[in-house]
Amino acid sequence: MKRQQMRGLVMALMLTTALPTVTAHAQVATSSASKPWMNTKLSADQRADLIVARMTPDEKLTLVFGYFGSNQQKPKFTPHAEARMGSAGYIPGIPRLGVPPQWETDAGVGVATQRESSDPYLERTSLPSGIATAATWNPDLAFKGGAMIGSEARASGFNVQLAGGANLARDPRNGRNFEYGGEDPLLAGVMVGAQIRGIQSNNIISTIKHWALNGQETNRMTVSSNIGDAAARQSDLLAFEFAIEKASPGAVMCAYNRINSIYACESDYLLNEVLKKDWGYTGYVMSDWGGTHSTAKAANAGLDQESAYTFDKQPFFGAPLKAALADGSVSQARLDDMARRITRSMFAHGLFDHPVVKGPIDFAAHAKVTQADAEEAIVLLKNDGGLLPIAKSARKIVVIGSHSDVGVLSGGGSSQVFPVGGMAVKGLGPKGFPGPIVYHPSSPLKALQARNPAARFAYDDGSDPAAAAKAAAGADLVIVFAHQWAAESQDYSLTLADDQDALIDAVAAANSKTAVVLETGGPVLMPWLPKVGAVVEAWYAGTNGGEAIARVLTGEVNPSGRLPITFPRSADQLPRPVIDGDHSKPELMVDANYDIEGAAVGYKWFDKKGHQPLFAFGHGLSYSTFGYSDLKTSAAGDTLTVSFKVTNTGKTAGKDVPQVYVGPKGAPLDGRSGWEAPRRLGGFKKVELAPGASTTVAVTVDPRLLATFDSKAKAWTIAAGAYEVSLGASSRDLRAKAEVTLAAKTLPVTYDGK
Ligand code: BGC
Repeated sequence: MKRQQMRGLVMALMLTTALPTVTAHAQVATSSASKPWMNTKLSADQRADLIVARMTPDEKLTLVFGYFGSNQQKPKFTPHAEARMGSAGYIPGIPRLGVPPQWETDAGVGVATQRESSDPYLERTSLPSGIATAATWNPDLAFKGGAMIGSEARASGFNVQLAGGANLARDPRNGRNFEYGGEDPLLAGVMVGAQIRGIQSNNIISTIKHWALNGQETNRMTVSSNIGDAAARQSDLLAFEFAIEKASPGAVMCAYNRINSIYACESDYLLNEVLKKDWGYTGYVMSDWGGTHSTAKAANAGLDQESAYTFDKQPFFGAPLKAALADGSVSQARLDDMARRITRSMFAHGLFDHPVVKGPIDFAAHAKVTQADAEEAIVLLKNDGGLLPIAKSARKIVVIGSHSDVGVLSGGGSSQVFPVGGMAVKGLGPKGFPGPIVYHPSSPLKALQARNPAARFAYDDGSDPAAAAKAAAGADLVIVFAHQWAAESQDYSLTLADDQDALIDAVAAANSKTAVVLETGGPVLMPWLPKVGAVVEAWYAGTNGGEAIARVLTGEVNPSGRLPITFPRSADQLPRPVIDGDHSKPELMVDANYDIEGAAVGYKWFDKKGHQPLFAFGHGLSYSTFGYSDLKTSAAGDTLTVSFKVTNTGKTAGKDVPQVYVGPKGAPLDGRSGWEAPRRLGGFKKVELAPGASTTVAVTVDPRLLATFDSKAKAWTIAAGAYEVSLGASSRDLRAKAEVTLAAKTLPVTYDGK
């Protein structure tokens, strides 16, 4: 029977090719008659209704039960032959009804391969890390990067990309901050949302994850993120809310951690109440790998699909769900809803109408896309006396450390993309997950050499500070590459590993013309900061990272990245100086008290507490300078509009990111209840200006950023009164202020910015 169906399909395809017009129409008509859900004129809702009505109970159960796609768990588990080898997940299709399989792969920087498996690695293009893309403050780049990795997913046979990490960086030591969009809900929501839209522009589904408050990797499977409703909705949940509104991701991945003691994947509050009811989310919720803990509880709380069940203690959907339906602990209506949500997303995002087909990838073109992202992501943190860009007159340049002679570092874990051309350095890092440590073969040293033919370059591997200092002495410029490998499943220290502080100290003592290039997943401490001339945060720069770094260091590209996360001076400034839990005891049930800072995440905490950061949220220098003038505000109805003029006051063309912050007028936290901090980022815009040129920018502030959430009334409330609007180059470099009076206003919890 199956074979007959296949033959029928082949015949139909042959006819379609031979007689395109007449036969194609005839075929659509036939297929619409027998499969009315294939009528593309119908809405995704209608199509999902039609197909679910035709499904047998077992077919519905098939859709909600996920398998792993890799050989990693052999012999315990052997993946289905139809799964894409080395991938994160596979859900069989329903051939009878034309439902395609769901082929899932990680993640946010490109098409990843599971490690520790006998499967060959897929070699694919890697974007810079998620936090780097957020540092561009340029949603167009995020969209293009998403579109690029989505197209590689498609060409690799994947139709569900497990991307869209939108967890706020509540702790700068979180080992997965590199995958996320920083510490501010607006910035993270806009940037991650743009990337998801880009991915989904390829007729595939992207997730948004990890829902929610997955704020640390220590004890990530057990930790409870404890926080009140209003504080959550004004921070982490708001980032997801903005991104979901902007991108309509087909799926939401619920997180490993617990929220107020309840596992995220069985939290009625998170899944049913906030996501599906308050926000009207129409897609489906899949669990993180190992994130399902029950059958009826999870299904009734709103979990629609158990992912890769072998990661869980036992299969919870599949046969146990069938039993729960039989004994009535899960209703038939709920299973229908699960199947409906999954197929609805598959229709809405083109999985039925545009089946994925493996095909060629234009790696050269994609390298340019990731390079453009990396170039705008790089943040010039410090540049005393114009040490950078590299002077044309520099004759002797010494480059030190971090394998910068061969490549650039990337972040580890499930999101790891393996480089085209192989790893630049082999045998680094843990043998098992989250290893290995991967360097993309894009050498900053070689890229610099190619751009400075008149200069003599020397390379020192940095393993011996004294030898590196000796090599550095007398050079016209020294560039030290320092790195901190961050990886899923572990948090990291703010102190650079392997005594790199001592290396930088020794080199800077030998030569004051020292620039430090950081390859990190987030903030690190810089005890050597006063001794070095320049510091550049290059993050994990992706496939063409070496080129991007060299172009910024030489001035071919004027740096325009801005920090999406606060760099603290010490861990003592953080809400939790010590991370809760114990990495060596993964089963430990731990509580993380997020009520300490509530919604005051990152710069908001620093502002509230009056802490001086090492580098402020929003900070980033340029080889040019920018001036702001003509700040004006206007409030009409729900909408606060802020306009101003930006002028390139320097001699170099470049890009700037003016930032608008809003807060109640008067003393910080002046008793107007619910404001977590003196001000919030209300808007931003990346602008490009020739020297001397000006442009007028207008940004509108989402009313939720002027409101507090009233949990009892379930509404956003704007208090009547005076508000301060600040225009700045960072959260701590506020250049102009204006006052605006807002009328009292209440917005329903369903408000979605439209
Ligand atoms: C991660 C997810 C990832 C999944 C599949 C989990 O360990 O937390 O982000 O998508 O694995 O690889």
